[in-house]
Amino acid sequence: MRLRGFFLPSLKPRPFLPPRPAPSNQRRARLSDGPAPRPLIGPDVLVQGRSFPRDDFTNVTPRILEKVGVNLHNEKQHPLWVIKERIKEHFYSSYVGRWGNPLFSVHDNLSPVVTVQQNFDRSKNIKKYYYLYFSFSFHRTTMLRAHTSAHQRELVSAGLDAFLLAGDVYRRDEIDSSHYPVFHQMEGVRLFSDHELFSSVDGGQVLSLFEGSGWRTEQKQQVHTLETVKLLEFNLKDTLRSLVLTLFGPEVELRWVECFFPFTHPSFELEVRFRGQWLEVLGCGIMEQQILHSAGAGHKVGWAFGLGLERLAMVLFDIPDIRLFWSRDERFLRQFRGDDLHRPIRFQPLSRFPPLHNDISFWIPDSFSQNDFFDLVRNIGGDLVEQVTLLDQFTHPKTGRRSECYRIVYRHMERTLTQEEVRTTHEQIERAAESELGVHGRY
Ligand code: DAH
Repeated sequence: MRLRGFFLPSLKPRPFLPPRPAPSNQRRARLSDGPAPRPLIGPDVLVQGRSFPRDDFTNVTPRILEKVGVNLHNEKQHPLWVIKERIKEHFYSSYVGRWGNPLFSVHDNLSPVVTVQQNFDRSKNIKKYYYLYFSFSFHRTTMLRAHTSAHQRELVSAGLDAFLLAGDVYRRDEIDSSHYPVFHQMEGVRLFSDHELFSSVDGGQVLSLFEGSGWRTEQKQQVHTLETVKLLEFNLKDTLRSLVLTLFGPEVELRWVECFFPFTHPSFELEVRFRGQWLEVLGCGIMEQQILHSAGAGHKVGWAFGLGLERLAMVLFDIPDIRLFWSRDERFLRQFRGDDLHRPIRFQPLSRFPPLHNDISFWIPDSFSQNDFFDLVRNIGGDLVEQVTLLDQFTHPKTGRRSECYRIVYRHMERTLTQEEVRTTHEQIERAAESELGVHGRY
């Protein structure tokens, strides 16, 4: 049995240490530039309009807080969104309720700010410290979720029997080609009553979900009968195998590995072969009955899984580096745009022809919106535009007029651009910004 995978991120065993407070020079740090409202870490941690008093557990950094609310998984046509939508579609079409409705409801907008109790549940198991150590805390009782399993209990308490939940999760970890401190998971949970679990089995009427005097073993929890566990395990693996085959096609090589997770027992990991190596893409298992019990669903049993959306997207689209998901580079993003959700996508590595940049500054009217400007640049510059960044903002001390300066980076995928070509496009952008957005050029 394994204790680590990408879900338990460290590759090296590390002792449990309480998270350290951030260095004092970060305490009043203003976050990096960018026009969005910025989270602050001062005496309080400010995030999403809430404020959390700093204490010895505070270890979240401004850089991490900047990612809260970005929600790449909800950004249309982003590769993580594409994966999420494909998974949703698979579940919608394969599992239909009695009234023709989708069996699984989908949730993708729950805040990643959770209580420590939500994240770790009441699990007494010391393995939870793996998670604790690697998490980002605001203070003693509030943190950024380290996995989407943090919401299992609240959704079950709300009465849901089958759901999918996508979201950003946060773990302190090294950064390399397959690890990043923020990534995305999709959680799935399905509960069964005894009738639902046993009705399809011959002689199922005589089986029961629970037994009074059982033992917890490698194979099962104390209160479950072995029949319950085996049927749930079969249903769980069947569900996930069919999902993975739908995503990757029949050629994909899979293997199941037994492992440990705090919210499930027994637990498994599914690995997929990618570039000659086995890559963990999901964790799953039979839900701890204690969780169901405390959520008011103790008469049911269930399975749960947590998929790594980046990992799946890397395998599926052949994306070599997890950092690319945060790229604003058009050459990356545009490869995933298209009307047909199911079209084959194979990522083409970005070429490295030299970039040229040109800045643009203008006085802006009150109605000015950055997104309109980005759209306009994208519209005119098309594939030549690699990046647009806000360099500077200025408010005139006397008139109160505001101006902004952007840098546009131009790069061609297949050849070296000339200054002349870039100038022509850039001037078009200047003119269009004046006529369409009402800005006044400062050129
Ligand atoms: N929460 C686990 C993780 O992030 C993944 C996981 C494992 C989710 C098993 C589950 C599960 O729902 O049943 O590492």
